[in-house]
Amino acid sequence: MNEFEKVSLGIYPTPIHKLPNLSRELGTNVWIKRDDLCGVALGGNKVRKLEFLLADAKKQGYDLVMTTGAAQSNHAMLTAACCLRMGLDCILVLKNHGITARKGNQILNYLMGVEVRFVDTDSYDDIYEEMDRIAAEMGRKVYKIPCGGSNALGSLGYVDCMREVSEYDQHFEHIVCACGSGGTAAGTVLGAKLYMPDTHVMCSMVDNDPFDVIVPELMKEAADLLGTDVELPVPDLLDMCGPGYSIPSEEGNEAISMMMKLEGIVLDTCYTGKAFAGLIKRAREGYYKPEDNVLFVHSGGAGGLFAQDWEKL
Ligand SMILES: Cc1ncc(COP(=O)(O)O)c(C=O)c1O
Repeated sequence: MNEFEKVSLGIYPTPIHKLPNLSRELGTNVWIKRDDLCGVALGGNKVRKLEFLLADAKKQGYDLVMTTGAAQSNHAMLTAACCLRMGLDCILVLKNHGITARKGNQILNYLMGVEVRFVDTDSYDDIYEEMDRIAAEMGRKVYKIPCGGSNALGSLGYVDCMREVSEYDQHFEHIVCACGSGGTAAGTVLGAKLYMPDTHVMCSMVDNDPFDVIVPELMKEAADLLGTDVELPVPDLLDMCGPGYSIPSEEGNEAISMMMKLEGIVLDTCYTGKAFAGLIKRAREGYYKPEDNVLFVHSGGAGGLFAQDWEKL
């Protein structure tokens, strides 16, 4: 891990603490890793990935970064925030999908003054072509960060997070995280295997992509980057997408309310609510023993929560 350069963007280690009321409610010891409190904008998992990705951009001499995602992308908003901090130019080339109005993360993009361009397509290939076109028009070279920052280098952010968790004075039998583009899941499963081989990781899928292929591929590429030949586990992926990517689900909304009511912690409709609903589902099925310690990775996303029209939910 140490060979990989990263820039310091977040405040790490993020806190880990127990959730006493939820533990009582769910009949097991529930803990939370507060990556939502990492200190950039509204926090979130992307900052760990960006520490590696933007170090790479800088090292390779780029001063223009572009990334993508849906209209309310937390990743895109955090990429802009981190680029501005580092003095890098940033353009967000987003899919015209989801809530494009000046709400939620789009408020933050507006406040940062970052250039946002929407492209009417469902294909990321079209988006990457558009990035090349914009860069060519500007006569500049562009460092393109894939959707969600989910390539092998970005995934190292969560390998590193698992190293951080392994240094905490508490063993966790289980870890639960969200899986939206795959990098967090890949890094978490690989990192747990390397630093806490007895710990089981479950990833709640919040989109319908073929993560049974995507996550193992990313794990393999990240393991190759690290030069480890550790035997890679088959990821435990639970479908929590519900009605569709970024569309709130009943289970997700119940999880958001429970977390807010019992612990005063904010989850979101797109990622962490559905991810935590996966933990609740498993707990209710009796998957966890009463003495188990189950760590939920809070990957941020509060911005998206405030884009929703709650009168209609
Ligand atoms: C708040 C939040 N949690 C979880 C995820 C999922 O992470 P990944 O894209 O690495 O699967 C995202 C991705 O955008 C996110 O914004």
